[in-house]
Amino acid sequence: MSKILNPEPKVIAFLCKWCSSNAADLAGVSRMKYPDNVITIETPCSGRIDPNYIFDSLVDGADGVIVAGCHPGDCHYVVGNYKTLKRMYLVMELAKQLGIEEERIRLEWISSAEAKKFVTVMSEFIEKLKHLPPNPLKPEGLIQEVIH
Ligand code: FES
Repeated sequence: MSKILNPEPKVIAFLCKWCSSNAADLAGVSRMKYPDNVITIETPCSGRIDPNYIFDSLVDGADGVIVAGCHPGDCHYVVGNYKTLKRMYLVMELAKQLGIEEERIRLEWISSAEAKKFVTVMSEFIEKLKHLPPNPLKPEGLIQEVIH
């Protein structure tokens, strides 16, 4: 495996309140461990996540951003997560053009019952980010202040 370039990557996780956020809670009450350098933000639906939130997170100092929503077919707003899926293709394309590695942005479907998946996804994401250099857009931004 490649060298660790960023031992403490910071992650912003936008979690749908109907599924992934509950999975995070379940992981917590089940005493499952996952890296504590993840800041979670609950949203009403993954479809509510404006691409600006993702880019603002990176500009403000996150090393990676993850969006997690209900599985396809399970969105409480029927098509919210399908909109997310389409939007994320555009986000990835724009990120590429801005020179942001695509590994820094991730979309996952995690249901309320999938605490183990939540832990696995977060742990893998952090591990991957450790092998990337710190986010080139990273200033001494807000996230630094929140985490430290
Ligand atoms: Fe969870 Fe839409 S309500 S993704």
